[in-house]
Amino acid sequence: MHLMIMGPPGAGKGTQAERIAKEFSLLHISTGDIFRNAIKEGTETGKKAKEYMDKGALVPDEIVIEVVRDRLSKPDCASGVLLDGFPRTLEQAEALDDVLNDLGMVFDAVINVDVNEEELLNRLTGRRVCRNCGTTYHIKFNPPKVRTICDHCGGELYQRSDDTIDTVKERLVVYKKQTFPMMEFYQRKGIFENFDGARDIDEVFQDIKAYLEKKKEK
Ligand code: AP5
Ligand code: MG
Repeated sequence: MHLMIMGPPGAGKGTQAERIAKEFSLLHISTGDIFRNAIKEGTETGKKAKEYMDKGALVPDEIVIEVVRDRLSKPDCASGVLLDGFPRTLEQAEALDDVLNDLGMVFDAVINVDVNEEELLNRLTGRRVCRNCGTTYHIKFNPPKVRTICDHCGGELYQRSDDTIDTVKERLVVYKKQTFPMMEFYQRKGIFENFDGARDIDEVFQDIKAYLEKKKEK
C-alpha cells in the first residue's frame, strides 16, 4: 500500500504518520525531515533548503521533486510508503505523477488531516522534538515524562526553528495559498479522504486505521 498524508502545518501529519507506518508496515518519508537532516549534515541541499524553511516559505519545486524522485527510486520503497508533506503544490503533484509512472507505483489513498487555525498555533508553538530519534511531543497535549528528555531514547528535546509564532503564521499563509488549492487534484482522482484532526491523537488514528483496513480489504 502506498499512501500520502496531508494537512496544514501542525495538523498532526508526523504524529499520525508514525503510527500508520508502524501499523501498516510502511516506510515514512517526510520531506521536512529529509531537509532537516540535510541541514544537520551541512549538505548543499540542506544549505539551500534552510534559506526557505527559516522564513516559513516552501523550498523550490525543482529541489523537492529531485529529492523525492531519488528517495522513491530506492528499493526499500517497493513494499509501501507513506509520503508526509509532499506534494505541496500543483507542480509537485503533477511531477509526482510522472515519477510514479516511471517507477510503476500507484498510490491508494490520500489522508487529509483537517484542524482549525487556533489549534494549529497552539500545537506548533508547544511542539518539542527529540534531537536523536525524532519523536514528537507537545508540552501540554503529549508531554514527555521528563520535560526536556525523550521517553524513548533519552535524547535531548528541542524546539524547531520554524516553530516561532511569526514563522508559524507565515507557514499557514503559504499553506492556504499554495497547498490547499492543490488538494482538488486528488479529490478529482477519487483517492482523497478527509479526517477531523481536532480530536485526541488516538481517536484520529483509530479513524484513519479503520478507513485503511477497509481500503486494504477491497
Ligand atoms: P514539514 O516538516 O513538513 O512541516 P509542516 O508541514 O509545516 O508540518 P509540521 O511537521 O510542522 O506538522 P505536522 O502536521 O507533522 O504535525 P505534528 O505531528 O508534528 O515542513 C517544514 C518545512 O520544510 C516547510 O515549511 C518547507 O519550508 C519545507 N518543505 C517540506 N516539504 C516541502 C515540500 N513538499 N515542498 C516545499 N517545501 C517543503 O504535530 C504538531 C504538534 O501537535 C506536536 O507537538 C504534536 O505532539 C501535537 N499533536 C499532534 N496531533 C495532535 C492531536 N490530535 N491533539 C493534540 N496535539 C496533537
Ligand atoms: Mg511533520
